[in-house]
Parts: sequence; C-alpha cells; structure tokens
Amino acid sequence: MVLSKRLYIKTYGCQMNVYDSEKMEALLKPLGYAVTDAPESADMVILNTCHIREKATEKAYSDMGRMRELKNERQALGKDMIIAVAGCTAQAEGEQILNRAPYVDMVFGPQSYHLLPEMLAKATRSVEKGKGPGCGVLEVDFPEVPKFDFLPEPTEISGPSTFLAIQEGCDKFCHFCCVPYTRGAEYSRPVQDIFKEAKALVVKGAREITLLGQNVNAYHGEAPSNKGEWGLGELSRYLAEIEGLERIRYMTSHPRDVDEALIQAHRDVPQLMPFLHLPVQSGSDVILKAMNRRHTSQFYLDIIAKFRSVRPDIAFSSDFIVGYPGETDQDFEATLDLVRQVNFAQAYSFKYSPRPGTPAAALENQIDEKLKSERLQILQDLLREQQAHFNRNMIGKKLAILLEKVGRHQGQLIGRSPFLQSVHIKAPAQLLGEIVEVEITSGETNSLAAKLIAT
Ligand code: SAH
Ligand code: SF4
Ligand code: F3S
Repeated sequence: MVLSKRLYIKTYGCQMNVYDSEKMEALLKPLGYAVTDAPESADMVILNTCHIREKATEKAYSDMGRMRELKNERQALGKDMIIAVAGCTAQAEGEQILNRAPYVDMVFGPQSYHLLPEMLAKATRSVEKGKGPGCGVLEVDFPEVPKFDFLPEPTEISGPSTFLAIQEGCDKFCHFCCVPYTRGAEYSRPVQDIFKEAKALVVKGAREITLLGQNVNAYHGEAPSNKGEWGLGELSRYLAEIEGLERIRYMTSHPRDVDEALIQAHRDVPQLMPFLHLPVQSGSDVILKAMNRRHTSQFYLDIIAKFRSVRPDIAFSSDFIVGYPGETDQDFEATLDLVRQVNFAQAYSFKYSPRPGTPAAALENQIDEKLKSERLQILQDLLREQQAHFNRNMIGKKLAILLEKVGRHQGQLIGRSPFLQSVHIKAPAQLLGEIVEVEITSGETNSLAAKLIAT
C-alpha cells in the first residue's frame, strides 16, 4: 500500500493519550497516512490534548495557533492541512474550540476515535470545496457501543515496552478533577479481548506491558467462559500465562480499589513488577475528605504496609496536589508527614489548578499562588531527596534491566529496572529488547548507571 499522505500527531498528558494516539495512527494507515514528525509537511495534524491542569489546556490552544500558521503556508503553496483536536480538552470544550479557533477542522473526544475515518471523510469533502475556515466537524457524544470493539489490533510496536488500555473512564468524581467529565463513566474491557491484544503485542516483540486505565484497579471485566467478572489481580495472573510476556505493570490505581486479590497477585506473580504508582494527593484527612477521595491517610498507609508484607522490596510512587482550596499549614504538614512515613521511590506533585465545572473550582477559599509555589517547592525537595536516596541505595545491587532504546552516547543503551528507574548501560545494540543482568555502578536523582554482568 502506498502511504501518500502525511500525518503529524502531538500527544499531551497521560499514557492513555499515548495509547490512543497509536490507535489513531493505526486507524489512519489504511487511508494512506504515514506518520511524520514534521508538522509543516503534514496533510493532517492531530493534537491529542490533555485537560488536567490549565497549563495543559493553554498549551494546546497555543499549538493550534502554530498549526494555523503552517496551514496558511501550505495553502499558499496550493496544498492543504486538516487540523484535528482530539483528547480531553476536545471533549471538555468541544464547540468552544471551534469558536475560539475556527480554523480547526475537526474536534472529537476520546470516545469517538473509532469514528475517525467517517469524520475525516466529512472534513475532506468540505476542505475540497475550497479554502477558508475549518470544516467544523464535531463529535463529543458518549456512544452506547464501546469504541474498543472497533479499534484495530496493533500492527507494530514502538519498543519492547508497550501500553494496553484495559479500562477507561472514572466514577470517582474527586472534586478537583476533570477526568470523569472528559473520559466518561468507567468501562472495563472483557478479559478475552485484553488477552488477545496482549498476545498480539508479544508476537510483535513486546516484553513488558503496562495495563492502562484512569482507574485501572477498578477494573472488573467479563471473565472467560461466563465465569462472572474478574478484577485486576485475576487478570494479571491470567496475562502472566502468555509465553514471552516478562513484565506486567499497571496504572493509575486508586487506593480505595486495592483489593486482597491484587495484593496476593503481587505475592504470587513474578511478572508483576515491584513498583506501584498509587496517588494519594494529600496526607491531611480534612483535605482528603474535601477532595472526595473517600479514604483517610491511615487507610493509605495500611495499604502500603499490606503490599510490603507480601512483597518487601516493592517501591511506591504517588501524585500530590498542594494548595487545594482551604489547605492550611497544618494540612500541608500532614502531607509531608505521610511522605516521610512512606518513603517514595518517585512522585509527581502539582499546584492545584481550578478546572471549570468541577466542584473545587467554585470554592471561595482558594489558596494564593505564591503560597502554592512555596509549598510545592518544599514538597518537591523532600520527594527528590527520597528519590535520590532510593537510587543511591541501588549501587552495588544486581538488577534485571529491560533494554528499551539506544542512548545518546556511542555504545550506550537505556533500559528500565523493575522499579521503573532509567538505567544507562554500555551494551551492544543487538541486546535491544532483551532483559539483561547488570550491576548498578552509580545512582543519581533521575537515573542509574550499570555494567553488564558476564553470563
Ligand atoms: N486517576 C488518577 C489520576 C488522574 S490525573 C487518580 O486517581 O489519582 C493525574 C494527576 O493529576 C492526579 O493524580 C492529580 O494529582 C493531578 N491533578 C488532577 N486534577 C488536578 C488539578 N485540578 N490540579 C492539579 N493537579 C491535578
Ligand atoms: Fe480524577 Fe479522582 Fe477519577 Fe483519579 S480517581 S481520575 S483523580 S476523579
Ligand atoms: Fe490529561 Fe485526559 Fe489523561 S485530562 S491526564 S489526557 S485522561
């Protein structure tokens, strides 16, 4: 097949968007689109947006403006460019995008990706009528039929570590968060569909699969042969049976959805990596309640202890929000306290950003930006210190590393440890995609260096 058209996709936000972008690429390939990383030569541009914080949204609007300039340049040369805005901002703002950026041709949310060829047909037809404003194709409904049934199987993988969406949407409605509105209600894919996709990924060369969902451990999918529903623990055990699948990870989890079966799976399934991203957001019970997280800090600490009792080497990562409306010095201290108790291997932290339409955005007691910045700095210093300590502790240890890509230096490969640390190793390129035994020789805040152990 001749791929005569060029497609440029820019992906913002979380891993789910990365996965979705790959699906969109696969959907457009049969229509003759090959991916390019040069937007100026693209017949179609997709901005796969994120709406989680104001900054992410504003970035998408500024990129829309940049694409408009490229579109004008192409049109001056007698060519064209379709500008599409997908993802969570598209879902949240829909029509507003067409008003604010009328040169955009298509706006569609995450639940409509399977309709992409259809939408494109509409857009192309009107583009051919002549230049001028965008085509105004808008698709932000939440369809009854799950889109997963219509998305293509993976045709190629970008490396030995891949993503697989098993669940989408969220019913939790944390008061700060836009995701339940942008991704819709929770949906879990049937076990067999996931198994099939996982197998296809392994056949293409995947050694590691990260199972994705906005609320991945709320997973409750239809089990094989009418055996009711399975949770993430059971699903992981089942996927671990796939020959050649060496590593399984999952994200993002919610503390309330951690069940016994998942904890037991971490005890029994060696493919489940000993690293867990478990967002807590705050260490203050007052703030956790205000956020509608529906658990206490002690509940979180108890879960951590349970995981550690079955898998003593398990490491944790988390997400934090500072400056949630009403957060006092005392509340913030409680967050620092929780961090000290858990000792994280890594973590993300953010200043609270009001999202239109969420309950927290309407609260009166918003925190001053300067105070938010001060708190963020203090929290990040502590988290960075813990991360550096975790990494330095690895020096001299032997670890299994999945070699994922070529490094910047000659003869260097970059891989991941079981704890998701980035590891630089001097190794021959033919080892790419392999899992190798190494000895860690140095540990910095953001990465490790290691040498191959001769076998
Ligand atoms: N489903 C996950 C995370 C979704 S969003 C969970 O249950 O936690 C990823 C992270 O972005 C969140 O964990 C939170 O820390 C952060 N976040 C979400 N909304 C935010 C907001 N309005 N302001 C700042 N950070 C936010
Ligand atoms: Fe957002 Fe909360 Fe759902 Fe996570 S659990 S996606 S933070 S509403
Ligand atoms: Fe952003 Fe949507 Fe992911 S808001 S973090 S792209 S689910």
